[in-house]
Amino acid sequence: MYKPLLTFLAAASIAIAALTGCSKKAEIVPGAVWTDTEGQQINAHGGGVLYHDGLYYWYGENRPQKGFTSEAGVNVYSSPDLTTWTPLGLALTVSDEPGSDIESGCIIERPKVIYNPKTGKFVMWFHLELKGQGYGPARAAVAVADRPEGPFTFVKSGRVNPGIYPENMPEEVRNSGVTIENLEWWTPRWYEAVDSGAIALRDIEGGQMARDQTVFVDDDGKAYHIYSSEDNLTLNVAELNDEYTGHTGKYVRIFPAGHNEAPAIFKHNGKYWMIASGCTGWAPNEARLMTAENIYGPWEQLPNPCVGPDAELTFKGQSNYILPVEGQPGKFIAMFDRWNPENLFDSRYVWLPIDFKEDGTPYVEWRDSWILD
Ligand code: DGJ
Repeated sequence: MYKPLLTFLAAASIAIAALTGCSKKAEIVPGAVWTDTEGQQINAHGGGVLYHDGLYYWYGENRPQKGFTSEAGVNVYSSPDLTTWTPLGLALTVSDEPGSDIESGCIIERPKVIYNPKTGKFVMWFHLELKGQGYGPARAAVAVADRPEGPFTFVKSGRVNPGIYPENMPEEVRNSGVTIENLEWWTPRWYEAVDSGAIALRDIEGGQMARDQTVFVDDDGKAYHIYSSEDNLTLNVAELNDEYTGHTGKYVRIFPAGHNEAPAIFKHNGKYWMIASGCTGWAPNEARLMTAENIYGPWEQLPNPCVGPDAELTFKGQSNYILPVEGQPGKFIAMFDRWNPENLFDSRYVWLPIDFKEDGTPYVEWRDSWILD
């Protein structure tokens, strides 16, 4: 269907729903302009959704129309039904203070918020690049708040687990001195070196790189930080402490040299499932599906979970978060970003339900529009 017409129909259906009080019947139109309750285009990219006390909170990067640095921070919206979103402003605001880790002009990406019932705090993790340093620093950053809408107070940023070896790196590799120096990328010798942990070893002293990231709270209340490390070549699964504000030192490397970005994870019927992307900058590529029975692995890679037009390009999007629908066990929404590097503000959201095959494998099928029951 013609795009402006689809956008108009989506807006009309939300308006009719609001007038008739049937807001739960509002449509989700993947890829269309999504406006908030004030009629403004939602600006919450690379984000995540938290359910707390009867409301969903959507956190995401506040992106400008031009450029790609963070001049504002992380936006938050609330919704009772996942379709109508009320803007609550900035949950985390960048700093005016020169030299601050989150100084205006830094890069804040992929913010995710989890709630810690033990401390009563909301904890936000995000990927941070320091002002003026491109994507070199590759830091993980954390901020906390007493309320879901914030304000979040910045706590710290840095590489992850400095001085600590990954749990699944054998003793003989730790002392092997394996390196990728002077090796040509993607040659068998380079692959072998990355696979065994050359880049992780290079970064032991200062800590592991952390770019695209997510956080996940397991059924037992333990939280994990999952991020693209080793120059985006390898994913790490790292345990968070009881407060969720730091790492315990326990972490594993998964899919070494797999070149995975954009990890999004969920658990269903006792199994962990992850959707990730390849590494092609802002351009879309084919999604990957991974599964494990233990969050630390072994993880197994499965074929692309996307089905339908542009499935080989993740519907022109990139995975971002997988949201369990509150009170509906087995219902999950896969959230993707359809980036527009010419105008990151206007990057679109592709939200689609996750379906399961008979053998329990999840897949995501394209729908022009759908209604959340
Ligand atoms: C792909 C990542 O997934 C995005 O979050 C962003 O970092 C872009 N790369 C930047 O090119």
